[in-house]
Amino acid sequence: MKVLVIGCGFVGARAADLLHAAGHEVFGVTHSSTSAERLAAEKPWPVLTCDVSSLESVQALRAQAGPVDALIHCASSGRGGAAMYQTVYVDGMMHLVTAWPDAWPLYTSSTSVYPQTDGSTVDESSHADPDRDTGRLLRAAEQIALDQGGTVARLAGIYGPGRSFILKNLLEGKSGVEVAAEAPDGRLLNQIHAHDAAAAVVHLITHRHSGIFNVVDDAHMTQRACLEALATLFSVPVPGVKPPDPGRKRGWSHKHVSNARLRATGWIPAYPDYLEALQQDPHLVSSILAEVLEAREAEFPRAENIVLIGLMGSGKSTVGRFVARLLGFQFADTDHMIVNRAGCSIPEIFAREGEAGFRKRESAVLRELLGSRRHVIATGGGIITQPVNLPLLRHLGFITWLEAGTDLLVRRTPSNNDRPLLRGEEPPRVKLERLIQERGPIYKSLADLRIQTDDLTQEESAYGVAESARIFFAKRGV
Ligand code: S3P
Repeated sequence: MKVLVIGCGFVGARAADLLHAAGHEVFGVTHSSTSAERLAAEKPWPVLTCDVSSLESVQALRAQAGPVDALIHCASSGRGGAAMYQTVYVDGMMHLVTAWPDAWPLYTSSTSVYPQTDGSTVDESSHADPDRDTGRLLRAAEQIALDQGGTVARLAGIYGPGRSFILKNLLEGKSGVEVAAEAPDGRLLNQIHAHDAAAAVVHLITHRHSGIFNVVDDAHMTQRACLEALATLFSVPVPGVKPPDPGRKRGWSHKHVSNARLRATGWIPAYPDYLEALQQDPHLVSSILAEVLEAREAEFPRAENIVLIGLMGSGKSTVGRFVARLLGFQFADTDHMIVNRAGCSIPEIFAREGEAGFRKRESAVLRELLGSRRHVIATGGGIITQPVNLPLLRHLGFITWLEAGTDLLVRRTPSNNDRPLLRGEEPPRVKLERLIQERGPIYKSLADLRIQTDDLTQEESAYGVAESARIFFAKRGV
């Protein structure tokens, strides 16, 4: 099938990727030449530029791309109001179906067309007569696709790596539970992971399902329940209540949007529940933490744990156990967690899945540790080699780098039965020296405290860690 994907943003680019991977011929279309250049450099599919609000521009695109089997309108109105909705959505849709009268059109609309505020469950047969201009314009654009016998995908609130307003606002202390008389626990949330939104669009167009489909996950969650769960997971205060924000882009609403019709076509969401997606998606939490860290490092939420980093043999597990005993904290060891979950040893994991498989498991246990409090967490020496782990480590607690000279490291890692990295061709001493060179700068950039342990007993190191952590958390009022 030959498909035009108009608008290569958060959902469009993913849809184009999925179509391309499935062997379809895809053209990505974007408004600006800068994003066209960026996408063309990154993506395996060709990218064209077009301003869909102009019929001439769409006709030029028609001449370039030739006939197509299907077109997906995924373009965004940016931050524009009703005027942009008119030109990008309504006029744009009309221009596209005029230029390709025989192509199957799919229009990506929004569940904000349902104005219900009574907490009821809405499906595609429920009334969708928005009380706002923007909503009415979405409906007009939908109608153009429907009149052609095409498809309308009504997308819920989209989140994914680099985008989760709920989590970002919470971490930045800007959240509140928006309560109203009919929504005492805040409004009902209707969300969809960007991957699932793109997969739904591709599913609908490749199977030629016509009509309207809600694209939303399976969760039934009030804003309060979601924020309380997130507050526990990220060790931040539960936000207070506030009145509904009249400026919300999608308007005030309180309804549960059903995905039953889409599910009946065989679509299965990979991320059926937002809270589970935080654990499932390796990039989601890390990307949001990274944004918050960059914007406001001083107020970045740090959980009340102690995280030990450093090379193998630096004493993380032994010192960690002492620290835990001194402070009455629990002890966790990422290597042990990985072995428990996998049901086999680290060398076996390396042998079966390679180092890459081991690193994936290591990142997953780090996400599992979200929500822990009063733990001492000893980490594997290489955990810092994966950039995705760094924001999580920083969030998880007070970070201590245990340093030791090569002689001591070599003495402490004698048999290396459990350390596949020291069993390669390079002699252990040479390998350890190279790892110090490679990893030292990363340990340094992460560490709140650095302890040179060569001349200390492991108890003495533990006292240093415990005391410094106590001061660190006291200063932050923990
Ligand atoms: C590794 C260190 C090990 C273990 C794995 C890889 C590394 O943990 O995670 O063998 O890359 O340095 P320790 O630091 O606890 O030995």
